[in-house]
Amino acid sequence: MNKTKQIKKCLFPAAGYGTRFLPATKAIPKEMLPILTKPLIQYGVEEAKQADIDTMAIVTGRGKRSIEDHFDVSYELEHQIKDTSKEHYLFDIRKLINNLTFTYVRQKSMKGLGDAILTGRSLIGDEPFAVVLADDLCVSDSIGVLSQMINIYNKYGKSVVAIETIDKKDSNKYGIIDGKEIEKSLYQISNMIEKPAPKDAPTNLAIIGRYILTPDIFDILKNTKPGIAGEVQITDALQTMAKKDQVLGLKFDGRRFDCGSLDGFVQATNYFANLENI
Ligand code: G1P
Repeated sequence: MNKTKQIKKCLFPAAGYGTRFLPATKAIPKEMLPILTKPLIQYGVEEAKQADIDTMAIVTGRGKRSIEDHFDVSYELEHQIKDTSKEHYLFDIRKLINNLTFTYVRQKSMKGLGDAILTGRSLIGDEPFAVVLADDLCVSDSIGVLSQMINIYNKYGKSVVAIETIDKKDSNKYGIIDGKEIEKSLYQISNMIEKPAPKDAPTNLAIIGRYILTPDIFDILKNTKPGIAGEVQITDALQTMAKKDQVLGLKFDGRRFDCGSLDGFVQATNYFANLENI
């Protein structure tokens, strides 16, 4: 087994505008939209905590202060609710606040996911880390998706992206990978392209919003030119690593809801409503 550094930090790029959910996202960050009673980003934080990660590094932007308030104590509310029948509503969030560290940095302008991750460098330092895109809500009957990916990282010591099979006609919504299966559901990635047209997509294997990245990604990102949409793309930076056989793709066990789309958001809501017998 490779000797790998433990993954202790998870980066949450959360500076985007959430235009697809306007007008709801006019004054509320899209990461704070709830699936039932829990904001999207809280699901991601819980998945990271389950993977033994204790520091949540959140890249925010203007208008995102409610994320910081959510992961902080509200003394007024605590005072109001203490020893009432409603106190249990706060149990889960209190556990996160008491057991985790939350750090923040602001991305000044929207220059893409790659730029958001590079902005998080000051919070991460020189160690491997996880990335969660809160829009992608993942559930699993076994261990969480990040835990599955960390197991792979611990074995190989390489960056890992989560992948799933998509309809090829949707390839222009995703980073698409090509590679060879080296063990069941695990690919050594040889090529990755950000949002190719279906005719240019080498496979129907799409990257979803979970990454384990080795810290050399930061210097690579610094030297990565803006790609599609004029933005610095994490997929392009990872392609530099993939050329050296340093990126793996894991077809994870579980299900992912694309809560960045209305359709996925409704599906996730129905899924959790069913679980709760609502
Ligand atoms: C980002 C990534 C893309 C990935 C997707 C997963 O795109 O750039 O490679 O497939 O997340 O959700 P976005 O959805 O931010 O446009």
